[in-house]
Formats: sequence, C-alpha cells, structure tokens
Amino acid sequence: MRDRITPVSFRRKKEAGEKIAVLTAYDFPGARLADEAGVDAILVGDSVGMAVMGLDCTLPVTMDVMHHHTAMVARAVSRALVVADLPFLSYHTGEADAVRNAGRLTGQAGAHAVKLEGPADQFGGVIQAILRAGIPVMGHVGLTPQSVLHYGGFKVQGRSEEDGRRILAQARALEEAGCFAVVLECIPSPLAAEITAALRVPTIGIGAGPACDGQVLVMHDLLGWGKARFAKTYRDVRGEMADAFADYVREVKNGAYPGPEHQYE
Ligand code: KIV
Repeated sequence: MRDRITPVSFRRKKEAGEKIAVLTAYDFPGARLADEAGVDAILVGDSVGMAVMGLDCTLPVTMDVMHHHTAMVARAVSRALVVADLPFLSYHTGEADAVRNAGRLTGQAGAHAVKLEGPADQFGGVIQAILRAGIPVMGHVGLTPQSVLHYGGFKVQGRSEEDGRRILAQARALEEAGCFAVVLECIPSPLAAEITAALRVPTIGIGAGPACDGQVLVMHDLLGWGKARFAKTYRDVRGEMADAFADYVREVKNGAYPGPEHQYE
C-alpha cells in the first residue's frame, strides 16, 4: 500500500524542494491511470464543462455534475489527493451553502479537499467556515475562469505592476485564510516566481511558468486537445482515437470486422 498524499505532504514537498504534479481527471479510467502514473493530486476540475461536456466556459457546471464526476474519480484513486472544484455559485451565496456543498463533494462523493476561485477578501469567511468543518481548501488566483464575464474572455492576468501586486496580495491572503496550496493560473512567470517565494504553502501553476512549486494540467490538454500556449501534447491520444474510429468504420463497411477471432463457435 502506497502512502496517501495529504495536504501536509504538499507542504513537506515544498520544503524539500520536490515539485508537485497535479492532473485533472473526470472519470474512473482516467483517474486510475493518473494515480498509477504517480501524480500527487487529481483535480476534478469544473473544466469538466469544457473538456468533456462541450461547454464554452465553466459557469453552467453544477454541484450535481461535480458530485457525479468526483465520485467516479474518488473510487479509482488509492494514493493521490483528490481535490474537487466547488462550481460557480456553490460558495458565493454564504458560508452555510459553501460548507454544505464542500461536505457533499468530500463526505458523499469522496474528495479529500475542495478548491475555490477568488480572493480571500471576498471568500475568506467562506474558506474558514469550510476549514472549521475539517475540509482542506485549495485557493486559486490569477485567471479564475468562473469570472470570465468580468474579464470578457480568458486573458492572461497580472501583466501590469498594479495587477501583479493585487494578485500577490490575494495569494498571501489565501495562505493567511488557511488554504493548503494556491493555484496560479495564466500569470507572467516572474510574478509566479515572486508569489512562490513569498508563500509558505505550495503554488501550483498552470500557464504560470517553471518557478511554481508544482504544475497542474487539464488531462485532455496533454493528450492532444490543448490549444493554449502552456498546453504541451505529451501523446497525441486525440489523433490515435480519431484513427482508431476511422479504422473501425472502414472495417465494418468492408466486412473485415468482425474476423474469425471475434466470433463465437
Ligand atoms: O477546473 C480546472 O481544471 C482548474 C485548473 C485549470 C486549475 O481549475
């Protein structure tokens, strides 16, 4: 039995200078493979809306959707820390709603922690209420996709001096509020390096450069579906799937499938 990763292990990895590998997953087979590959945490992101459901943003993703996918992932994982995203409007309406929804994703669906987007000056009370219920919280600053209507699109944040200072202050406040790690999304690499040096808890970057204490990628982005600059295609699984489907169609049409070895006597 391999040792389980916990929020405390995250902190120890930062102190030891060991990078933290986080990957999203949304179902049992993907989560099982990611866990077996040795990722430290699996994020059941509300990116499920875009990666899996064909949505163009995360706003329509509901608690029922997050519960459904988190349960599948949690059943598959034996080592990684499972972190589930609190979706849009599941924590904005007050502490009681936030605690109830965080409890649903952990106590019922099986996640070990939740992540929420946004600054501690807005959500500090909510974060502390969730922590009081015994549920670890991961923070998220920089480009926070649930605020896409405010940004008017998915844009790199923190390019100006003033914006950079604002994001650094937000990350510090999330640490103060008790978050065990902070995701930094789509900010310039030097700013991410400054934030990483300023925090005692680990920073997990996506589009935030190499200085972060760890990295997170959307699973589909590393399998050939990624379009963003930071998305690296590790294997073209998308291309392999397209070829396999085309081969299947051709063989059904020309009668090559099923062959003798696929039939019952
Ligand atoms: O939903 C998600 O996958 C995320 C990551 C991009 C950090 O929040």
